[in-house]
Amino acid sequence: MISKKLQEARDYEKKYLAKDNKDIRPLFHLTGTVGWINDPNGFSRYKDTYHLFYQYHPYCNHWGPMHWGHSTSEDLIKWEYQPCALAPDEDYDQDGCFSGSAIELDDGRHLLMYTSVEKRQDSDGVVRDYQQQCLAIGDGIDYEKVSSNPVISTDMIPAGNDLHDFRDPKIIKNNDTYYCFAINRHPDGSGQILVYESKDAISWKFNKVLDRSDNQVGRIWECPDYFELDDKKVLIVSPQETEGKGDNIFPGFNNFFLVGEGKEFLDFNRQAVQPIDLGPDFYAAQTILTPDGRRVMIAWMQNWETVNFGNDAHDYYSTMTIPRELKIKEGHVYQTPIKELENYRKCEVKHSCEIFEEQQLAGVSGRVIDMSFELSKVDSEKDYLFTMKLAKNDRYETRVIIDSRRKTLKLDRRNSGMRYSALSEREFPIDIVDGKLKLRVIMDRFTLEVFVNDGKQAASMKIDTDITADGITFQSDEKVNIDLIKFELSDLN
Ligand code: FRU
Repeated sequence: MISKKLQEARDYEKKYLAKDNKDIRPLFHLTGTVGWINDPNGFSRYKDTYHLFYQYHPYCNHWGPMHWGHSTSEDLIKWEYQPCALAPDEDYDQDGCFSGSAIELDDGRHLLMYTSVEKRQDSDGVVRDYQQQCLAIGDGIDYEKVSSNPVISTDMIPAGNDLHDFRDPKIIKNNDTYYCFAINRHPDGSGQILVYESKDAISWKFNKVLDRSDNQVGRIWECPDYFELDDKKVLIVSPQETEGKGDNIFPGFNNFFLVGEGKEFLDFNRQAVQPIDLGPDFYAAQTILTPDGRRVMIAWMQNWETVNFGNDAHDYYSTMTIPRELKIKEGHVYQTPIKELENYRKCEVKHSCEIFEEQQLAGVSGRVIDMSFELSKVDSEKDYLFTMKLAKNDRYETRVIIDSRRKTLKLDRRNSGMRYSALSEREFPIDIVDGKLKLRVIMDRFTLEVFVNDGKQAASMKIDTDITADGITFQSDEKVNIDLIKFELSDLN
């Protein structure tokens, strides 16, 4: 049964899609049908198609009562909009259907597991969120919330822990058991991951605390994921209020790979904390295993700290990242754009030359590009400060700056047309050995993603620059050799 609230959201989407003068969007980075999106939800494969849902407020470009928007794809590059999947239409989720995940059941149905939010007044008179885990089961388009919701209620939080931060269930099947990984707040005020188990995905019991911050890895953790990558185990968490540490853990909202080991499925001994993406716009990553065995991750290309600036520039707000394949080498997780992107490459342009004064390279411009290059010193004694400017015209530019002496990469969108100062620059350490560096740059109109040294590091940044600014220039204070290959990307509509 489609509720009135869900029907309203679907009608609103239909009306928008029928409109002629729709706004210009990224070509292969997913946005919601209309309005606001945040976290990816329910990233899953169902009946041989990829499904991606997302936190969604169709009615305006700001966060509001959360629905689940829905898109499908055959290759994770070209997306098709599907009707809104969930609306906050029950008493227990009247204040929002928060983030969650999805899985195909053995009987061929698609199960969505999400967090219901209901505001209740406590005995001290304060109104607080009650967050519980719920299910909706369907056929890939229409989903019915189950009558036993919430299937994991606040009563099932182990005694002594916080009763209000309890959300973002990730459902995973291992052998014949379903597990649900949900975030919660330990009495010390920081995040922890609670694990529940079930034989039928409907009735659940508490199993264990998988890992916790202990106030070392940010405060509350959001949006967990958990998987094996070769001989390691990876727990993804998105901590709020992280303290800055060293040069590559920035304060604020973060997203980490917690890399560890353990014999049994739920044994997790954390060995390392690796920031996933060093740009200003990356949060709430979720992964999927493709049929050919690749672990692929997608995230929200945004940061909560900047969500209330420039929201009305388009008739949608926010984008997902490009899906990224994950690999692990010597305990470090590498990420590269999903290989399916290469099917859309055309118009190859190659250059092998020296860069010194600011210059354009013939055929290298545009706002939808897949470009890779390698830099090396011309004079082995001389370090360089290399600047690439993108989305450039007389008025605007976005800079990627590589400093071979300090061994850093900086993303700088101060002059991209943004009118607020928050998170306009990000600089982080990179490996530059003997002056050599490899970079891959993916631009999709309003998004920029860079992958350093075959994906050892990645950084994502949105820009709202006028689409006509499409120049690209290169400059270096000491001569460098560049070996560059650039493609346009086509047939994406
Ligand atoms: C993370 C998050 C989740 C929550 C959702 C609400 O970005 O705060 O923890 O479920 O967004 O939209």
